[in-house]
Amino acid sequence: MSTPLQQRALASYFGAFDSAPQVLVQAPGRVNLIGEHTDYNDGFVLPCAIDFHTVIAIGPRTDGRVRVVAADFGHALDDFALGDTIAHAGPRSAWADYVRGAVQMGLREGLPLRGANLAIAGDVPQGAGLSSSAALEVAVLQALKSLLGTTAPAPARMAQLAQAAENDFVGCRCGIMDQMISACGQAGHALLIDCRSLQTQAAPLPDDLAVMIVHSRVRRGLVDSAYNERRRQCEQAARVLGVSHLRDATLAQLLAAHGQLDDTVFRRARHIITENARTLAAHQALTRGDLPEMGRLMAASHASMRDDFEITVPAIDALVALMQQAIGADGGARMTGGGFGGCCVGLLREDQAERVAAAIESGYRSPDGEPPHVWITRAVDGAGPLSL
Ligand code: GLA
Repeated sequence: MSTPLQQRALASYFGAFDSAPQVLVQAPGRVNLIGEHTDYNDGFVLPCAIDFHTVIAIGPRTDGRVRVVAADFGHALDDFALGDTIAHAGPRSAWADYVRGAVQMGLREGLPLRGANLAIAGDVPQGAGLSSSAALEVAVLQALKSLLGTTAPAPARMAQLAQAAENDFVGCRCGIMDQMISACGQAGHALLIDCRSLQTQAAPLPDDLAVMIVHSRVRRGLVDSAYNERRRQCEQAARVLGVSHLRDATLAQLLAAHGQLDDTVFRRARHIITENARTLAAHQALTRGDLPEMGRLMAASHASMRDDFEITVPAIDALVALMQQAIGADGGARMTGGGFGGCCVGLLREDQAERVAAAIESGYRSPDGEPPHVWITRAVDGAGPLSL
């Protein structure tokens, strides 16, 4: 039984190409439970893939061209030639560059692509910090792989190619968390990802546990410049501490170097070092089902993002405080994702979800007076083919 989203991708394919696709694939968005801005420091993250997807219907062409239709953008079309260097689509169709970038990286990886038709539909909320762009990049690579019937690239390699598309083609210096969880997610589990080795370890998210995502409706301004500034500050701290990445530094080393770092850079590094430790502890707490400890770690993570990394905003701090109060000791809440707006994540007992959602819906308004959007989601599998 196909979902309405899958039917939308199929209908868009029939409409644009007047034929049936060969394969249907999907890749999910994500929410991060803990481990923020640690990925580009070669550290640890603990996200899960969520039940929002990008779906792609794909069929072959043999003329060296790729034609793409985007169901979510008024069935907008893109059309480009395969080659060593694929041209950019430009700012008027920003979505198209994620597709072109992923195709480019697939070709460089040696995928024997001779052309393709793609129809894309998604329900990952855009601009909410739930990784709609990573879902799109990974879905494109999964689509090419399924069309060609190859087993390579393996999921973690697909994530690297998707990240390369975003870093080198689209021009956004993100880490690898979003692409890794979209490619490698496991239903019913969060994944501890070592962003250096790309090894993963699952931790169960049992059915009686709810993962709550709350969209603050705070517009995410200046995200790219603030993100890149944080990256530079982390790199600067690593240089002073004499390590390649902050993953390799200890708190004792940082404290010993206090005098050599300006206060802002010191605090940025303290967030990363303590956040890595919290993420490892959270993986253990989740594995033994210790919700109070998860709550303490999530609260400490939020405080560190607010005070040391300075990526929260007052409305987000207020929303997290409200969530923490409503959830109580059996679970926790924090901002999730890159920062400066977007979503907060809560972990709580399923039987408390309705009450907590009601408290948040009545108690929170964005600075523009908008109500929050609350989703109760579940952890799903990473990218893969669907039956047609
Ligand atoms: C964004 C980036 C990720 C990661 C997070 C912060 O989502 O795409 O790579 O750095 O911010 O944890």
